Amino acid sequence: MKTTRCDRTPAWDALQTTFNERGRSFDVRAAFASDPSRFACFSQSAPHVFADLSKNLLDQGTEQLLFDLARQSGLESHREAMFSGAAINTTELRAVMHWLLRKPPVPLVSEAQVATEFVANELTKVHTTLAAMLAFAEQVRGDAGITDVVNIGIGGSDLGPQMALLALDEFVLPGKRFHFVSNVDGHELAAVLRKVKPASTLFLIASKTFTTIETMTNAQSAKAWFEAQGGTDIARHFAALTTNVVAANAFGISSTFGFWDWVGGRYSVWSAIGLPLAIAIGAQGFKEFLGGAHAMDEHFRLAPLAQNLPVRLGLLDLWYRNFHGFTSRSVAPYHSALKRYPAYLQQLEMESNGKRVDAEGAALPYGTAPVIWGEPGTNGQHAYFQMLHQGTDVVPVEFVAVKAPKHDLPGHHNLLLANVLAQAQALMLGKVDNGGHKHFAGNRPSTFLLLDELSPSSLGALIALQEHRVFVSGSLWGINSFDQWGVELGKVLAKNVEARLSSGDATGLDASTAGLLARLRD
Ligand code: F6P
Repeated sequence: MKTTRCDRTPAWDALQTTFNERGRSFDVRAAFASDPSRFACFSQSAPHVFADLSKNLLDQGTEQLLFDLARQSGLESHREAMFSGAAINTTELRAVMHWLLRKPPVPLVSEAQVATEFVANELTKVHTTLAAMLAFAEQVRGDAGITDVVNIGIGGSDLGPQMALLALDEFVLPGKRFHFVSNVDGHELAAVLRKVKPASTLFLIASKTFTTIETMTNAQSAKAWFEAQGGTDIARHFAALTTNVVAANAFGISSTFGFWDWVGGRYSVWSAIGLPLAIAIGAQGFKEFLGGAHAMDEHFRLAPLAQNLPVRLGLLDLWYRNFHGFTSRSVAPYHSALKRYPAYLQQLEMESNGKRVDAEGAALPYGTAPVIWGEPGTNGQHAYFQMLHQGTDVVPVEFVAVKAPKHDLPGHHNLLLANVLAQAQALMLGKVDNGGHKHFAGNRPSTFLLLDELSPSSLGALIALQEHRVFVSGSLWGINSFDQWGVELGKVLAKNVEARLSSGDATGLDASTAGLLARLRD
């Protein structure tokens, strides 16, 4: 499947002309004044998510050109290739089918939806594994002897389940504690081991490859601690979540839940990697989480471009990165339980689209993934929002708000909602004050995502929305969003340096590393 790189389409040139003519000087306040339908045109519903894009720096004509760009670059056939199980991860020759993990066992419309025998076979495996994993989750939930679940994993084997478990705190089974250990820094594991007892702890060793050095080191230490404390029943207290069952068995773990090489680490929360979440919110809750994501998959697959939320967001990302030249996006969830959502999105976007060459390996003449950063909104307001309002760089902000809270403390939620609305308003409207210290230039763009409530299904939909928007921008940029070669070099060098830390051998090292090594060994 070959797409046409965005800069090689006629629409790219048209967008450049548009940007020069009216994009650079676009004023969203004037756009609202001259177009009474602006809110209606730039807002839409998608499964579980209402989105208001109207405070962004584009008009309907520009969005039409962006849709042309999507068509001309072959976005729709690329999307179809992903949903038919083609090996669109071309550098690793793998299919990209995290969406299959959310697909119900019986095809919703017709068998024809399951395009190939390969996909059909994998779907069967998905549901066999899901059933086993959910049965295990229910068993642990009902096992009063297990009070603590410790997930040992890093990157996608940590961020997804941790983010989701925190987000769905209201749905978590009381009486069980969940811990996440990702860092190879022994302080993290040691702090958890101080709190738990071997007889009442279940360790989940989460690693797609079962080779990641941080996870393997933590897993070895957890096992050694367990045995040193007199623990013997590894089968009851350790389970592995991995595509590499052979390595997990060799490690001494017989309880394993597998997944497949067509699930990227950062797309794996829907697989066995989601087991801590399934234990926390139960089989039904986990199914709802998958169901919300599946609804968003269907929206992405079937909705026309102009009403397709992941497509609209991905195109906006390209417009901002390549025409306006904005280099980052701030994520501002106005729900304290979404505290790890920005970190989760960092891996999703920056590991997927932080690439400098196209699928053929040719250097790209334009920017790709923006820097993603953020904190829960109200906290950010009292920290870095100053820069968002008055700094020299324009940073598009993506707000997330939730209509109905899950608490009944009077006053809080209205104050929270008032804040998120006011921040979006202030960014856009600004305030004239003689151009001095109290002047807000305004015209600062933001997107507003609104959920009715934060639930397993709405969280599933929100995360799938983000996955697909990353697919869209990556596809237009002509990059492979599904590999991550950029993390390899550091891993190789760390092995080399680790040996030198013991031996002190600095032969051939650059002077800076050699100097630091000497100080560390002093
Ligand atoms: O080093 C990056 C990475 O490969 C991520 O893509 C992945 O999510 C993480 O490491 C953990 O990998 P694994 O699940 O194989 O331990």
